[in-house]
Amino acid sequence: MKNLFRREIRQSKAYELKAFSRIIKLNQNELPTDFPQEFKTELFKKLQKLEFNRYPLIQPLTLQKKLAQDLKVEPNQLLFSNGSNVMIQALVLATANRGKVLIAPPTFGVYESEAKLLGNKIITVPLEGKTFQFPKQKLIKKLKEEKPNLCFLCNPNAPTGNLFSREDLSEVIQTAKCLVVLDEAYCQFSKESLLPDLEKYPNLVILRTFSKGFGLGGIRLGYTIAHEQIIDQLKKVLLPFCISAVTEIIAVEALKHQKYFKRQIDIIIKERNRVYQELEKLESIECFPSSTNFILFRAKDAKVCFNLLLKHHVLIRDFSHYPGLRNCLRVSIGLPKENDVFIKAMKNFEKLGKVISIDE
Ligand SMILES: Cc1ncc(COP(=O)(O)O)c(C=O)c1O
Repeated sequence: MKNLFRREIRQSKAYELKAFSRIIKLNQNELPTDFPQEFKTELFKKLQKLEFNRYPLIQPLTLQKKLAQDLKVEPNQLLFSNGSNVMIQALVLATANRGKVLIAPPTFGVYESEAKLLGNKIITVPLEGKTFQFPKQKLIKKLKEEKPNLCFLCNPNAPTGNLFSREDLSEVIQTAKCLVVLDEAYCQFSKESLLPDLEKYPNLVILRTFSKGFGLGGIRLGYTIAHEQIIDQLKKVLLPFCISAVTEIIAVEALKHQKYFKRQIDIIIKERNRVYQELEKLESIECFPSSTNFILFRAKDAKVCFNLLLKHHVLIRDFSHYPGLRNCLRVSIGLPKENDVFIKAMKNFEKLGKVISIDE
């Protein structure tokens, strides 16, 4: 049966993530707190009035209007998808079929996997040096030489966590003759965005999600902000009715409580800085600065460190198989008490010399 499928599909791997129960879950860069109960009570009243038998509108107009006001853009500069992953797929589908897609690894894996599914050649310009710096000159050179159909950049970058300068990003966007997708999934934590400059760059597509800063990974909602002409083309690629009426109601409710989410984000940033300072004290790991809600670090042996944390009921993410991320692990920032368990476990391992070698 396998040969009934296209070569690219046969050669790819399905996205997998093992589920664990009774665990401190620090593996998916989620907010550690759920939508508060009092917001849910209000929300459920609205959901009760929703006619489940009716299709939603093709575009979630109430959400579109509200978000456009908040972002100070026109409603027709916004397009929604069920998760920003789906928008990544739509962007590839719309621009690059058996063409070339430029990425700067190590970065978010879905850019490459989606581009490959349509037979695109992946052009890579790796981040530079030990601290994953933005390879501006090399990106400019490759854009001119290779003339890719699409370019993905991520700021702050995932899974490295670092922030690139807006000047450097701007230069690259201006050089590109293709769409440049700037994934700002974690922009609420870095408090930086190229959105104020969008008018200057007709080829810029900003990608955002409700999964991180709004803690709504479960409702699956992402969106792009771009010039109207770009949105008009992308609309043709996304399937009609892909935003459920339930999702729209939840997102509109979340937007009403922005002050609450800003407070949550500030708590996470404070915690991230605390966890970073504690990790930096450990001699057996190398820790990378972060402008997000996660921290990447390199252990002497990633597998040993991962498994030891798991024994202490702490689940983080192993990135050691990614090119450029040898022995790297990523921990999401959780509740203070969860972070304490993680830090304590890491300190204990160091004391025991356990993160040092797999051969002991
Ligand atoms: C950089 C980046 N972009 C996009 C996504 C996808 O987000 P979602 O599909 O939940 O909107 C993620 C999820 O982890 C991410 O880290």
